[in-house]
Amino acid sequence: MNILLTGGLGFIGSHTAVVLASEGHSVVIVDNLCNSQQQTLGNLELITGKKLPFYEGDVRDVDLLKKILRDHQIECVIHFAGLKSVAESGADPLKYFDNNVSGSIVLIEAMQAEGVKKLIFSSSATVYGVPQYLPYDEEHPLAPMNVYGRTKLQVEEILQDLSKSDPDWSIVCLRYFNPIGAHESGLIGELPQGIPNNLMPYICQVVSGKLPHLNVFGDDYDTKDGTGERDYIHVMDLAEGHAAALAFTNHHQGWEAINLGTGFPYSVYDLISAFEKSAKQSIPKVVKERRSGDLPIYYAKADKAKNLLNWQGKRDLQSMCDSSWNYQDQLTRVPK
Ligand code: NAD
Ligand code: WQD
Repeated sequence: MNILLTGGLGFIGSHTAVVLASEGHSVVIVDNLCNSQQQTLGNLELITGKKLPFYEGDVRDVDLLKKILRDHQIECVIHFAGLKSVAESGADPLKYFDNNVSGSIVLIEAMQAEGVKKLIFSSSATVYGVPQYLPYDEEHPLAPMNVYGRTKLQVEEILQDLSKSDPDWSIVCLRYFNPIGAHESGLIGELPQGIPNNLMPYICQVVSGKLPHLNVFGDDYDTKDGTGERDYIHVMDLAEGHAAALAFTNHHQGWEAINLGTGFPYSVYDLISAFEKSAKQSIPKVVKERRSGDLPIYYAKADKAKNLLNWQGKRDLQSMCDSSWNYQDQLTRVPK
């Protein structure tokens, strides 16, 4: 199929491009490079051995989107383009509503105008909010605790209303849990700008000597070792989840929200231990206060993805850490 990836040079989009291209799909990418680098395109072409059409542009540019959809006879769009910092979303909410919500509306308008009615949307487990029960299933009440999460929920709701208004749409909102890891080549991975907010990229920068130590945000939670527990998922598994969702859109109409997680939570200390094994070095750490807005533990009920998409995460925590380390190690030696 001819697939447009918005935000396709970012962390999850680039890995998905590799999986889709390897399955024989024609992948086109639009990205405004606000959180990625054009060099990633060259690395994608190295990995896939294919030339991938790329447009440097913004999803809020309706004319550009219409032209891309038309020129490449796009059949499905996977909409990764978005801003994702929880802290920044609180400090600058309009930037987030404009980019994430208005950006999605413009994309949908362009798709509607060009008659492209298959869409896979990057949503997040953050739409659930404080767990009423665990694991979160897709029926869990939706009450995001931050602006970023509300932008994801608003787009999900817009898409649900759209599908009710026109049964020709096939829309899948994938609620990702905590993606980490990298492609086995070490050529693509997560490349945060500035000081990372998330655990894995922070660990990577400590191990590469850019940051002195890891701050462990709380060791007194009611969890197995006192640190926060999350459902980490290998980004290549996540990428394969998109290929499965793409196949699903071919025989599905309407709107579905589907968790993409493994169903197994790991603590901050579990992740540190696994990474230390990968990097064969110890990670200096300092226990700090809990981070405001953090939940003690959450993880996915992953049955819906298995039943509807015939997909489940299959790579373990060690493989996630090995691949993140491999990427970080290559990045340190050969700047990309
Ligand atoms: P990323 O920042 O690495 O990738 C997003 C890409 O979109 C970047 O390349 C950026 O330059 C591009 N972009 C942003 N706004 C754009 C715009 N207006 N027009 C064109 N391009 C634009 O992030 P990621 O981790 O790959 O996440 C992809 C999607 O998945 C995002 O929507 C994010 O909110 C969502 N998500 C991510 C996580 C996570 O932990 N990484 C978890 C849940 C959901
Ligand atoms: C994981 C654990 C921290 C950093 C965020 C977003 C969520 C989703 C994924 C997009 C927690 C602890 C972290 C550090 C630490 N993104 N930690 N030291 O908070 O689960 O989810 O990313 O949709 O919306 O909120 O991920 O990696 O930041 O934290 O101790 O330097 O690591 O307290 O327990 P989180 P994270």
